[in-house]
Amino acid sequence: MRKKIAAANWKMHLNWDEAKELIKQLLDQNPAIPPLHQVIIAVPFPYLGMAAQLISGRSGFAIAAQNCYHKSSGAYTGEVSSSMLASMAIRYCIIGHSERRKYQQETPAQLSEKLQLCFSQAITPIFCCGEPLTIRENGDPCDYVRSQLSDSLFPLTPEQIAQLIIAYEPIWAIGTGKTASSAQAQEMHLAIRNYLTSTYGSVIAEAIPILYGGSVKGNNADAIFTNPDIDGGLVGGASLNAVEFTAIINALPQ
Ligand code: 13P
Repeated sequence: MRKKIAAANWKMHLNWDEAKELIKQLLDQNPAIPPLHQVIIAVPFPYLGMAAQLISGRSGFAIAAQNCYHKSSGAYTGEVSSSMLASMAIRYCIIGHSERRKYQQETPAQLSEKLQLCFSQAITPIFCCGEPLTIRENGDPCDYVRSQLSDSLFPLTPEQIAQLIIAYEPIWAIGTGKTASSAQAQEMHLAIRNYLTSTYGSVIAEAIPILYGGSVKGNNADAIFTNPDIDGGLVGGASLNAVEFTAIINALPQ
C-alpha cells in the first residue's frame, strides 16, 4: 500500500505570527490521520524550527523545506544545505518546483545534485514535474514530463528512487484556479508510473506516491484523489487556510 499524502507548500507567504497561528489552527482542527496517511507542511526556511516544534508529538505531521542548495557546504551566501536541514531533523524537501525552475533557472543537472544531497542526508525529496500551457495545448505533455523524469531522476539508484515522492504539477494549473480534469491528471499519473515501471520495475513504481498539485481545494480534492494513481496533493493557496487544508487532508482516500 502506498502512502497517501497531503502536502502544503506555503511558498513565500505569511509572517512569523501568522505562520505560528496557521499551524496551531491546523492542529486544532485535529484532522484524522490514519497510519498510511501523512501530512507534510513545507514552510519558509526561517520557520522550520518553530513549525517542527509546534507539530512535535503529533503523529502523522511532518515539516518540509521548500528547497535546498545543490552543493553540500561552502561559500554560498544565503543558501541552505541538505545537511543543515537534516541537523534540524527535517525529513522532507521539495525539489524542482516549477517556480524555482523558472525564477531561479534551476537546471535538471542541479536538481539531480540536490536529490543526491537529500538522499545523502536521509531526506525524502518531493520532486516536482509538470508541463507549461503551450505543451498542454500544442505538444505532448506526457513526453515533456517523461523528459523531466529521465533528466533528473533516472540517474538515481533503485534504492534511492524507492524513497522518493513525486508531485505532478501542471504549470497552467498552479495558482490559476484551473485544475487539470480528473481524467487528465490520472492519465499523466499513470504515464509517470508506467515510465517508472519501465525503468525500475513494477514493485518500485507501485510503491512511489505521486501527488497532484495545481489549484487543489477543499471542494475538488475528493474528485482528484479518487483516481487510482493519485496518492494525494501538493497544495499551495488552499494550504494557507486551516479549514480548507483540513478538508483536503480528510479527502485523502482511506
Ligand atoms: P496552488 O495550489 O496555489 O495552485 O499551488 C500549487 C503548487 O504550486 C504547490 O506546490
